Amino acid sequence: MTYIIRNNKKITLSLLILVFGFLMPLNAQIIHINTNDNSLIFKVDKAKKLHQVHYGKRLSSTQGLIHLTPVFNEAYPSFGNGQSDEVALIAKHADGTLVTDLYYESHEQTLNDGVQTTTIHLEDEKKPFYVNLYFKGYKQNNVIEAWTTIHHKEKTSVRLDNFASASLGFKAVEYHLLHFYGSHAREMQITQERLSNGIKTIETKRGVRTTEYENPSFMLSLNKPALEDSGEVVAGSLAWSGNFKLAFQVDDQERCQMIAGINPFASSYTIAPDEVFKTPKLIFTYSNKGKNQASINLHQWAKKYNLRDGNKTRPIVLNSWEGAYFTFDEKRLKSMIDSAASMGVEIFVLDDGWFGNMHPRNNSKAGLGDWQVNKKKLPNGIKGLIDYTEFKGMKFGIWVEPEMVNPKSELAENRLEWIIQRGNERQALLQRNQSLLDLSNPEVQDFVYNVIDNILKDNPRIAYVKWDANRNIQNFGSTYLSANKQSHLWIEYAHGLENVYKKLTKNYPNKIFQSCASGGGRVEYGALKYTHEFWPSDDTDPFERIFIQWGTNHIFPPIATATHVTNSPNHQTGRETSLKFRFDVAFAGRLGIELSPDKLKKKDLDFAKKAINSYKDVRDVIQHGDLYRLLSPYDDDGYAAINYVSKDKKEAILMVYSHAYHRRLERNLVRMQGLEKGAIYRVEEINKDEGKQLITVNGKDISADIFINVGIKVGLRKPLTSLILKLTKVN
Ligand code: GLA
Repeated sequence: MTYIIRNNKKITLSLLILVFGFLMPLNAQIIHINTNDNSLIFKVDKAKKLHQVHYGKRLSSTQGLIHLTPVFNEAYPSFGNGQSDEVALIAKHADGTLVTDLYYESHEQTLNDGVQTTTIHLEDEKKPFYVNLYFKGYKQNNVIEAWTTIHHKEKTSVRLDNFASASLGFKAVEYHLLHFYGSHAREMQITQERLSNGIKTIETKRGVRTTEYENPSFMLSLNKPALEDSGEVVAGSLAWSGNFKLAFQVDDQERCQMIAGINPFASSYTIAPDEVFKTPKLIFTYSNKGKNQASINLHQWAKKYNLRDGNKTRPIVLNSWEGAYFTFDEKRLKSMIDSAASMGVEIFVLDDGWFGNMHPRNNSKAGLGDWQVNKKKLPNGIKGLIDYTEFKGMKFGIWVEPEMVNPKSELAENRLEWIIQRGNERQALLQRNQSLLDLSNPEVQDFVYNVIDNILKDNPRIAYVKWDANRNIQNFGSTYLSANKQSHLWIEYAHGLENVYKKLTKNYPNKIFQSCASGGGRVEYGALKYTHEFWPSDDTDPFERIFIQWGTNHIFPPIATATHVTNSPNHQTGRETSLKFRFDVAFAGRLGIELSPDKLKKKDLDFAKKAINSYKDVRDVIQHGDLYRLLSPYDDDGYAAINYVSKDKKEAILMVYSHAYHRRLERNLVRMQGLEKGAIYRVEEINKDEGKQLITVNGKDISADIFINVGIKVGLRKPLTSLILKLTKVN
């Protein structure tokens, strides 16, 4: 279905409308963007100004809405039209003036396959300057994507100083903002605060590795802090691999306006006549059933529309990093491969350290950029390892960091101009002993693409690529961009990255890609469109991971969250934990192993084999089911609990973790969510430590009613202990 409304071409379009039988009045002033349960509604007033009038629960009827005076600012507020709040747009026009005043011109809506697309055309009152607002409503998942394009037909270029993806208004008594912060090896921690008058921004200015410290995601509770299963909340995320800024302004009328998009910081962007500037997408969902439903909406939407191969079950990985670091040879790797295969692992991934000959990559100081196999470590090449891995029944994967270069490398010696730098007269600042290649340069994009393309062409049986990125932009300057376009670098870097992602996705549709940036530096929906998963953190301590995964899975689905079992004591924190606890925490996402399996004791190897087998049995529920958060690790009682329920509700997995000492006060009664009402489930404890019985109901048939409303008693008293139950519907 398409509605077309053009105020200035009434006759032609009236005819068109008659021909197609649409009864849409030409002066229709309400634009209803909707999903099954959500409505986002705009009103065009008589002066042709566009205002949001509602975002929240779906309205079954919009009759009469037209008579309401809008509460919110203009739908896409621009600088110079008289308003004094944050703006979405600032443009310096060809004649040097800074005023933009946008008016509604027309809109179209289409509905295809459960996705409603709306385009609203806005136009400056005086200048040939145009803004299109786009909205996609994903009916079933209650998710809306919003983005904007800007173009003009002025005589010469126009400079954009602000260019938000979208602006959304809220009206409530209180606003509580949950967002994510962290650092290297402790990403996606949660904080929630009540917004007071003024502006709160979530942003990064790091250019690359953008999500290490903050994430472009949020949950905004309206009126009071939403609980997991009750309250009104809007959750969202910006799909962009570059600098982001999400500003929440509570103003003198107690309204909250969110303006979100690319961070305009030092990023003025000039567009020539007819050139189109397209913003990234802001993804958001509204739930009046609490935060958990908002997370489920985002997870299930992502699996269908924004996560590469989101509906394909993920294999179990063994990654060589924490088991071998840079120190290995073929013999050492083969020994790891042997035991990985005997455990039931499905892909062996060779991490950093396999390349560089003139400058061998034996530590982080040399070799980055020289993507030839190190002949000393691997005399039979990657091919020899692939043969061996496949002979052992597994697939092979490899680590690359193609955007980066060590000064001590052949690449840096030959291609200095490709490096992002602060000009000849200033010293280059290194991070982790490395520089960054200038992805705004199409030649560099080709190089980065070719790094991966050559590896995959030479070794077509490689099944998995881990793409790492271990520094920020920091040195600001491009030898490719002209002097008057230096401020485009932040944005063009992200565009360049996306170009490479797109080409790889097109040419390698069957490879698995992991996005990693010193751990969780690229956990965002811009990259996830082209990648299957992310490495959430270099912190693999299971105690820490409970928090990191808890935060991460508020916005991003478990299937995309790589969760690995590593050594004890943990290499980052030194904390000792049992193998069971490490497995139980790693079960919550895409399970992997990251240690030397050949160094495990027989008892541990046997446990690992069994656990991997159990994961295979339940992984579809974890990777494709709905995730429910039951007990928050942030609460005082020292527990965390989650459960997963398969789409058909025939299976469920409960995971409970104790991370404090509970004296004799074991937590009785963990209540589950999402089970089929009225159904009976058989309980089985999995990943059991020999001889230890943690529940009294093992093997028993119990009603969903009891699981949901009464809860089951869990015997976890000691810190760093855990329990996993599998529930199978019996009738
Ligand atoms: C980063 C990644 C790690 C590992 C190392 C290799 O820190 O996050 O997983 O790949 O680089 O140098």
